[in-house]
Amino acid sequence: TAITGIATLVTNDPSLGGGSPRSGTFESGGGSPLGLLRDAAVVIDGDRVVWTGASSEVPAADHRVDAAGRTVIPGFVDSHSHLVFAGDRTDEFNARMSGRPYSAGGIRTTVAATRAASDAELEANLTRFLTEALRQGTTTIETKSGYGLTPEDEARALRLAARHTDEVTYLGAHIVAPEYADDPAGYVDLVTGRMLDACAPHARWIDVFCERGAFDGDQARAVLTAGRARGLHPRVHANQLTHGPGVQLAVELDAASADHCTHLTDADVDALANSRTVATLLPGAEFSTRAAWPDARRLLDAGVTVALSTDCNPGSSFTSSVPFCVALAVRDMGMTPDEALWSATAGGAAALRRTDVGRLAPGARADLVLLDAPSHVHLAYRPGVPLVTGVWRRGVRVL
Ligand code: NIG
Ligand code: FE
Repeated sequence: TAITGIATLVTNDPSLGGGSPRSGTFESGGGSPLGLLRDAAVVIDGDRVVWTGASSEVPAADHRVDAAGRTVIPGFVDSHSHLVFAGDRTDEFNARMSGRPYSAGGIRTTVAATRAASDAELEANLTRFLTEALRQGTTTIETKSGYGLTPEDEARALRLAARHTDEVTYLGAHIVAPEYADDPAGYVDLVTGRMLDACAPHARWIDVFCERGAFDGDQARAVLTAGRARGLHPRVHANQLTHGPGVQLAVELDAASADHCTHLTDADVDALANSRTVATLLPGAEFSTRAAWPDARRLLDAGVTVALSTDCNPGSSFTSSVPFCVALAVRDMGMTPDEALWSATAGGAAALRRTDVGRLAPGARADLVLLDAPSHVHLAYRPGVPLVTGVWRRGVRVL
């Protein structure tokens, strides 16, 4: 298939001048990190991109789609979501919007509803949210357990998730399970013992909510090192509600990502800048908890690789929309539209240590989104407008 007549093609291809904003091209040259092509075409064969270039030079293809002056971008890579759950927390959201603060304790409400749900109900919810995300341009998505908190319920969540995505994360250490309220050390033993045994076969990643009211630095280190010993790679919910040890721990353990990064010291920013650990910002959470925004500008200026994801979950961020997060990041976190789109595509891929997605260059996976707009800037310029009018996943048009 050849998609021709593309007004703006976002490739994230370093050979076309794209590349991580941290590579310096953005700051020094004032150019875009997006590897932009104008009046362009892209050719896909099977599940791969095989050619990008000028629309006038497109090679012959058996099938042609005319983009008619619209924009094509890589599918969004949402590297942080919590989609295996039942119930919702409308009442809690309502209470927050009349002044009550967010607390991690609300997770218990979802744990109770999730444990009570059948496999079929959980999978129906999961597929509903995945479809919702796909319609908004998300072609790669990570999702976590964390609302079961028993070996059986956590393993069930991961098994269900693994039917739908390769990026599955074991988050038994979301909060201390209610049964262990008086024995947090016993719960950490469970998470690193019998629960890990049940969960490791179904997951790629291990995550921990390192936060006051959840797990402290030593507990989080115990969880992540136990997971690593079983072949799971670490990622961390770090520095969301308060300053804490999460970011430093993520860097110490070479975690793929430190997520949230809302409350950072200069030492945290330095540690990230001198590491491979991506800072994943989740503005849906600040939006839905009325918290102060993470400072993306500070991280980018320090040379940190930044990803942008939804954190879709029923408590702190019930949105599956990456375009919404892009708009928030541009409006309130100091990102340019180009940086925000890079972070929501190539940045998400970096946070998952993937090179096959988040870019459109020969050899990359054919995950493409057609936007009804002359350029990608409209994602932030036209907030809340459903611009996604076409989606190809692994070369197959799904929307
Ligand atoms: O990423 N921070 C911890 N976990 C979720 C919130 C989960 C919930 O409130 O249900 C988050 O924001
Ligand atoms: Fe989260």
